[in-house]
Amino acid sequence: MHEHIERVLVTYGTANGSTPQIAGAIADVLNKAGLRAEPRLARFVASVEPYDAVVLGSGLYAGHWHRYVRRFVRRHRRALSERPLWLFSSGPLDDSASRGDIPPTPSVRRIADQLHAREHVTFGGCLKENAQSRGARMLVRSGKGGDFRDFPAIEQWAEHVADEILLASWQRPDRRR
Ligand SMILES: Cc1cc2nc3c(=O)[nH]c(=O)nc-3n(C[C@H](O)[C@H](O)[C@H](O)COP(=O)(O)O)c2cc1C
Repeated sequence: MHEHIERVLVTYGTANGSTPQIAGAIADVLNKAGLRAEPRLARFVASVEPYDAVVLGSGLYAGHWHRYVRRFVRRHRRALSERPLWLFSSGPLDDSASRGDIPPTPSVRRIADQLHAREHVTFGGCLKENAQSRGARMLVRSGKGGDFRDFPAIEQWAEHVADEILLASWQRPDRRR
């Protein structure tokens, strides 16, 4: 019999290139757990329909997700709200995200509510000298740079997401096995 493997879209937005590695680490954990996870830049995702579940995240810029992630949310609002959905933000340039839970910014909170997301988590961010925008380089020059991504914490969260997706797939009455 054909076994249905849950397909999970791990999609994200980035300005300076540090969030893709977070999405990649999440997808790796989901794949190891027996799911079929694909990390994709939100800008290049044409449809959410093929996926059974979605993990969506972005770097934070003045309290907002990247504009093309916000556009992705508007375009795919219905499909996203119909699927099990987990959200992450990557931002704080200090170890505050590793020390405790940081709530979503008001802008991200609105998205979480609209899409009926299961959960939101904030991970530490990363900002280096090679940053693209003038604002980013100014932050680095003012001493705000560094890599605060906590990969053990990211992997731990991804394991928890994998458990929930697998549990839901086993409990679904229409599951194809
Ligand atoms: C212009 C600018 C504004 C930022 N604003 C915030 C913010 O409001 N809150 C926050 O936690 N981090 C903020 N950050 C930090 C970024 O979210 C962090 O560097 C993140 O890792 C960016 O992801 P990326 O490398 O994928 O673009 C800001 C960074 C820049 C460059």
